[in-house]
Amino acid sequence: MARPAAPAPVRFAHRTDAGTVLAVPTSTPRLSWQIPDAPPEFAATASELEVTVDGGPPASFLVESAEQVLVPWPAEPIASRQEVAVRVRVRDAAGGWTDWSPTARAEGGLFETADWTARFVSPRTLGGPDAPSPLLRGRLDVPGEVTRARLFITSHGLHRAELNGQRVGDDELAPGWTSYPNRLRYRAYDVTDLVRGGANVLDVALGNGWFRGRLGFRDGRALYGDRLAVLAQLEVTTADGSTHTLATDGAWTAGETDILASDNYDGQRTDLRRPARPEQTTDPVDVLDEDLGRLVAPEGPPVRVTEVLPAVTVSTSPSGRMLVDFGQNLVGWVRLKVRGLASGAQVAIRHAEVLEDGELGVRPLKTAKATDEYVVAGPDEVTLEPVFTFHGFRYAEVTGVDSLAMEDIEAVVVGTDLRRTGWFDSSHPLLNRFHDNVVWSARGNFLEVPTDCPQRDERLGWTGDIQVFAPTATFLFDAAGFLTNWLADLAAEQYEDGSVPFVIPDVLHTVRPAAAAWGDAATVVPWVVYQRTGDAGVLRQQLPSMRAWVDRIAGLAGKDCLWTGGFQFGDWLDPTAPPEDPAAAKADPDVIATAHLAHSAELVAKAAAVLGEQDIARHYADLAARTREAFAREYITGGGRVISDAQTVYALALEWALLPGERERAGAGRRLADLVRTSGFRISTGFVGTPLIADALTSAGEVDVAYRLLLQEGVPSWLYAVTMGATTVWERWDSMLPDGRINPGEMTSFNHYALGAVADWLHRRVAGLAPAAPGFRQLTVHPLPGPVLTSAAARHLTPYGEAAVSWQRADGRFTLSVRVPVGSGATVHLPDGSAPVQVGHGSHEFACADPYPRDRELPGDPTVRDVLDHPPTWAAVLAVAAELEVTGDDTYAAGRALHYLDAPARDLAEALAPAGLAPQAEAFRERIDALLA
Ligand code: BGC
Repeated sequence: MARPAAPAPVRFAHRTDAGTVLAVPTSTPRLSWQIPDAPPEFAATASELEVTVDGGPPASFLVESAEQVLVPWPAEPIASRQEVAVRVRVRDAAGGWTDWSPTARAEGGLFETADWTARFVSPRTLGGPDAPSPLLRGRLDVPGEVTRARLFITSHGLHRAELNGQRVGDDELAPGWTSYPNRLRYRAYDVTDLVRGGANVLDVALGNGWFRGRLGFRDGRALYGDRLAVLAQLEVTTADGSTHTLATDGAWTAGETDILASDNYDGQRTDLRRPARPEQTTDPVDVLDEDLGRLVAPEGPPVRVTEVLPAVTVSTSPSGRMLVDFGQNLVGWVRLKVRGLASGAQVAIRHAEVLEDGELGVRPLKTAKATDEYVVAGPDEVTLEPVFTFHGFRYAEVTGVDSLAMEDIEAVVVGTDLRRTGWFDSSHPLLNRFHDNVVWSARGNFLEVPTDCPQRDERLGWTGDIQVFAPTATFLFDAAGFLTNWLADLAAEQYEDGSVPFVIPDVLHTVRPAAAAWGDAATVVPWVVYQRTGDAGVLRQQLPSMRAWVDRIAGLAGKDCLWTGGFQFGDWLDPTAPPEDPAAAKADPDVIATAHLAHSAELVAKAAAVLGEQDIARHYADLAARTREAFAREYITGGGRVISDAQTVYALALEWALLPGERERAGAGRRLADLVRTSGFRISTGFVGTPLIADALTSAGEVDVAYRLLLQEGVPSWLYAVTMGATTVWERWDSMLPDGRINPGEMTSFNHYALGAVADWLHRRVAGLAPAAPGFRQLTVHPLPGPVLTSAAARHLTPYGEAAVSWQRADGRFTLSVRVPVGSGATVHLPDGSAPVQVGHGSHEFACADPYPRDRELPGDPTVRDVLDHPPTWAAVLAVAAELEVTGDDTYAAGRALHYLDAPARDLAEALAPAGLAPQAEAFRERIDALLA
């Protein structure tokens, strides 16, 4: 019998560091491990963890269960600076053991405030808001040979550290952005190779960043303070075992760098005639009295350069400007090589996401200047690249150089360096590009904080956007640490009364903010992280915050459990809302609000149940039940119509179990499908309905309608942007209008992930790879073949290992391949309706008859609905309507059919051209009759 493979190295909490995990987030990090491969009959019964502390004797701990994900730390808490080495082996049912995993290592950071001898220091006279970026310098004499050195560092403002002229680490825009007054992140670096015996110089340059630069669309600046400062502690061990520490203190000195100005929105200005690192630093520093109790160790990866893209074209715009196209809308900056320029010559790079009339389309950036400027020092070749800014762009306009070779310019992509964990593929090239666009929008907007957009004077952690996108995000990326960190900020910034700021970190400071679908990030995001990673700890961490939010909105709803009135974003960016009023949606905001109260109360109940808090669970389950009753009483008719009769309210009611009985459910499902049909299969939902509508249609049994909506290419639709050349998901369904002009609305981003939230349905339903138990401990494989796609596939690196599903339709057969990681199992549903099959880990193949063996025919005695559902006949009707000038607008035509759907198909003539009213009525009826004959 083949033996199971040895487990892979354990993982500490949600960290994904390649080598030793420095500054683990807690002194008792939970451990997870995977078994890459095992024979089919293998089942874990126990594990042994071996823990070594600071190279001492190993201690062994038996875990008497099959658990392998986020297992509690078995040993004594890790002390500050301590190194632990951990390996694991797993026992099978027969009592045999796997080999030991390779050893994984982690080190305690500085857990106690008292571990910091460093204090924040700030230049006394240099480095003011309009002055050049300062550099702070400390010196350390190290007697003897260095055996180990660690740098612990954070800052007010962005920092970049150099030890003896060598850059420390490879992260960008450190220390990132958190709710600074509550939580400031430090990182630890292994700098053993950078420190030497004798004199050492530690230089830290500072930029404005989120701390002191512009922030928010109301021209905010220096929102966290007006002094840049650094906190650094370099701890060096020498061969004799002694420790030598350089900590920021009053003995540090400051000078100026070559960075004259830096701002996240506006860009960076650099004068290369000045030294980047001044020879002398003569300005004294002030020691700031700052609370070190808010320092936190990282829970996830830092921002890094994740890719570098070459230019695709360099061209001249109609007005004669030099334009570079990188072929991809991205977030980062431009790296440019120049040579042969006179000292003092100026080079500038402006950025934009799109072109309009062949020129940079900068209006959507609003007040963000998004321009990097350089003054060069002379003719020698130099590489120009900013340090303390980032831009969202696909195009760059370069001034100050006469000519530009493609190889002299590239785009540097930056973002939080999340491990990619999810993939999707299908037989539909536009759909695949759409999915790529979702991935790119996540990459661009997962920069420290889950943001709305990365380019204009905003880039904020809008709660509603991540609330809808979290399921997609957690499939595509290992986002657990990233989101857990953000949720801790959310809890820290939540108001006393439970109100949740619209953006986290909060820079808007709205009074008692409570908006449905936005504040619900407090309940939804922790629940999604739990579902996707199995991390009940995040529920424990967030439960008070979750409850406070629901208590707040239950209070707003009052006794009757109807949350009505007050400010709401509602079904934000409903495509029929006028450009200047994105909240003017078809769905009634009150209906949306009460639906969210029911949903969030339900989630709190479930979270409490997971944590064993039965009383709390009962309380919120009861609130959820009362709210559902109130919703039904107030907003649902006996036939299943929901007030405001918009697609979004049906999607909410269907997906969140708000319909009281089967009759209402069936009615709501039918109505939703009819509304989609009569919108011409074009999307009609905003932020709230868009993530739910495909699931709602699927659960209503309207799979073909869901696919018509998904694969629609006309405006508005998911694929419209793709047909317009989009390489990211847009904020608006029509951020770019069909004529190539930018939508006149004030907010028009070309990189917003919210409307891409349907990708989660692509993974779970189109391909068919869904979690059935937290952390994918069980999978549901339930693919949804449709009439157009001939194949689809999804792959996900679950906490247990890689799971994969792929299916094909060919030659009348439907074939399905499933891969289940060790430790997990799957329930597999085939589209022939046969009983689901339970399988264990390993690879499995299935086959059945293709549910779409041939193109469907129009049924006998068709109704109007049948015609809409039969693409060739409907296209023929539209062609006649256009030819006879009845209408050339297919959405309008579909809308006219709404009240005729159950009528005989030939009544379409009356629907579109009523006899006695429309001049072409007679001729049109004859043609429709002929067509249907
Ligand atoms: C942001 C959105 C956000 C919205 C709230 C916009 O400016 O870009 O994505 O959710 O405001 O209304």
